[in-house]
Amino acid sequence: MISLAELHEVARQRLAPEHYDYFAGGAADEIALEDNEQAFRRLALLPRILPGSARRDVAVNLLGAWASMPVFVSPTAFHRLAHSDGELATARAVAAARTVLIASMAATTTIGDMAAAARAVDPDAALWFQLYLQSDTEVTDLLVRRATDAGCTALVVTVDSPVFGHHERDRRHGFTDLPEGLAAENMRDLPGGPRNIEMSPVLSWDDLERLRASTSLPLVLKGVLHPEDARLAVERGFDGILVSNHGGRQLDAVPASIDALPRIAEVVGGRVPVLLDGGVRRGTDVVIALALGATAVGIGRPVLWGLAADGESGVRQVLELLRGEFDHALALCGGRGLADLTKDLVTVRGPEV
Ligand code: FNR
Repeated sequence: MISLAELHEVARQRLAPEHYDYFAGGAADEIALEDNEQAFRRLALLPRILPGSARRDVAVNLLGAWASMPVFVSPTAFHRLAHSDGELATARAVAAARTVLIASMAATTTIGDMAAAARAVDPDAALWFQLYLQSDTEVTDLLVRRATDAGCTALVVTVDSPVFGHHERDRRHGFTDLPEGLAAENMRDLPGGPRNIEMSPVLSWDDLERLRASTSLPLVLKGVLHPEDARLAVERGFDGILVSNHGGRQLDAVPASIDALPRIAEVVGGRVPVLLDGGVRRGTDVVIALALGATAVGIGRPVLWGLAADGESGVRQVLELLRGEFDHALALCGGRGLADLTKDLVTVRGPEV
């Protein structure tokens, strides 16, 4: 495979149509989904010349975890729909690539089993846990405890989902439940029995404050698009912002993640890391996002395509393809390290007048 697009195509052929559409689809007219990728194509790089060195250092510290490149894996649900090894394969591949994996609360494997798989590859594997706050605080607390016990070193609270998104592809297929034998494993062994993951519009900043007080782990807010929310998050002492429109799966009328990034980066002003996901498919996308103020970028669907195409090896290919492309793009931009990626490298495609 020579590009993420090729792995996507193989995955499309391998997956059952309803599972492919569950992974690939977005909300409503899929405007945000498409724009996440298109927005990168509206931007262009103005490379610098004559770097004077063949060495390029791309490792980055993300809230205490060293990542070998500024690309991490965003949380996506139900990996066992993509491949029978599911999240275990993903955890091994991401550990081998020495970057951060954000495990979804909606995984088809428990966080404990994912952590064990990652640690078997690399005892220092970096694993964060993604959480939807549940209105039953006992459930939230239990999940946080399990993630902490599993060795997760940060919590990523997804805040863009007060209600479920409308996915018309799923409705067309009648895809509402996981097939027999698969379950959201983190939600199974709970007091009172298994539960569904709940999206709750009643949650507020106070609930986040409560979570803040209940754990010493760093907290990243995922799904921030409004600069004012980014400012509030920093003022209230949260540790990171993940600029994301949920891969175009929640509110369809939102901007592409990369278009929302510059204002958020400006408001945050370097006080906490600003992460981004949505539409990252090429090394040049990583360069553009870092130049516009991201500390690192996440990939969602490409990991699912790698997994569906070839299990653990497919996910490794995705990460190594992006690593290679990013390093190459950095070289072509005259960069020696991440600090060289500054805003002046990015311009809008089209003639300058
Ligand atoms: C997601 N995403 C997501 N986010 C989250 O916080 N918790 C979750 O359980 C999921 N589940 C999920 C399932 C599927 C099938 C997709 C495609 C996405 C959103 C994900 O973390 C991320 O924001 C986007 O996928 C990033 O966009 P790209 O890289 O897919 O374009």
